[in-house]
Amino acid sequence: MFEHKPVLLEEAIAGLNIDKDKIYVDATMGGGGHSEKILEVLKNGKGILIGIDQDIDAINSTKEKLKSYIDDKKLIVVKENFEKIDKILDDLQIKSIDGILMDLGVSSFQFDEGDRGFSYNKEARLDMRMNKEETLTAYEVVNAYSEKELYEIIKDFGEEPFAKNIAKHIVDYRKIGPIETTIDLVNIIKGAIPAKLRYSGAKGKNPAKKTFQALRIYVNRELEVLDVALDKILERLDDRGRIVVITFHSLEDKLVKSKFKIYEDPCTCPKGYPCVCGKKSKGIVVNKKAIIASEEEIERNRRAHSAKLRIFERRI
Ligand SMILES: C[S@@+](CC[C@H](N)C(=O)[O-])C[C@H]1O[C@@H](n2cnc3c(N)ncnc32)[C@H](O)[C@@H]1O
Repeated sequence: MFEHKPVLLEEAIAGLNIDKDKIYVDATMGGGGHSEKILEVLKNGKGILIGIDQDIDAINSTKEKLKSYIDDKKLIVVKENFEKIDKILDDLQIKSIDGILMDLGVSSFQFDEGDRGFSYNKEARLDMRMNKEETLTAYEVVNAYSEKELYEIIKDFGEEPFAKNIAKHIVDYRKIGPIETTIDLVNIIKGAIPAKLRYSGAKGKNPAKKTFQALRIYVNRELEVLDVALDKILERLDDRGRIVVITFHSLEDKLVKSKFKIYEDPCTCPKGYPCVCGKKSKGIVVNKKAIIASEEEIERNRRAHSAKLRIFERRI
C-alpha cells in the first residue's frame, strides 16, 4: 500500500490558483495526494491533469487510486523523469500548461519500503534509485568511487562537516570487503564521527542523515534534474500560469529561490544604471518568503518540518 501524507496540501492547491477549465501538471505524483485535490477542482470543468512520476510503484498505485479520473479522461499518467517535461508535453500535443506542482524528493512509501535502500533505519542493499530502470545505485558509488569523489559528494550534497573522515572510513572499510547494506554504511559513518554524535541526539537526527541525503541526491541527479526542468517548465507556462515547488532541504530550496529571482529580474546591468542587457522579466515571485508547515501539520506529519513552498507566476 502506497502510504504518503501529502505535505502543505492546502497551501499547494491555493498556490496553483486552479482554473477548472485549464491544464495542470503534477510532476511528482507519488501517492497521488496532491493530484487528487487538483482533480477535485478540475472535475467541475474542462480541465485536465497530467501526472508524472519516475517510480513505477508510485505510478501503479496511483493509477489504481485515481482510476475513475483516468476513465473520465481527466487524468493522464506518465512514467517519466520530469526533466523530460518538454518531450512529455510534445508527445501529448500540449503546447502550454497553466500550472505545475513539484513536491520534491522521495515519498514516505519509498523511504519506508525496505528494499529501496533509502532509509538509514532499515537494513537493505544500498540502492536509492527512484527509477529502478536507472543503472547507477548507491552500492556502486559507495563501493567503487574514489575517496576524493566520495568526499566531494558527501560534502557538496550532504553539507556534512565530517565528509572527509566519512569518505576515508568508507574506503578503508572496502579493503576488508564490499559495503553491502544501509546498516553497514550507518555503522561506518558512526565510526567516522566524534563519539558524542554517534547516537541520535535530542532532535532525533540520525548521524547518517546527511550522508544518505548526499548519496540519494547524487544517484538520482536531483539538483541537475531540477535545474533543467525549471527552465523547460518556464517556457511552457501560459500567462499567469504558476510553478509551485515544495522542497525538503536547503540545497533544493536555494536553487529554486535563486532561479525564481532570476526569472523575475534577469537584468545583469549595474544597479542604478539604465538597462542595456535587454533581458526581460518572465514573471513574479508570488511569496517573497517561503511558506512553511504549521506546527499542527508538523505534529501530524514529521516530514513536513523541513518543507518549504515557493510560487512563481509567469507573465507574458
Ligand atoms: C514527495 S513525493 C510526492 C508525493 C505526492 N505529492 C503525494 O501527495 O503523494 C515525490 C515523488 O516524486 C517522484 N520524483 C522525484 N523526482 C522525480 C523526477 N525527477 N521525475 C519524476 N518523478 C520524480 C518520486 O518518485 C516520488 O514518488
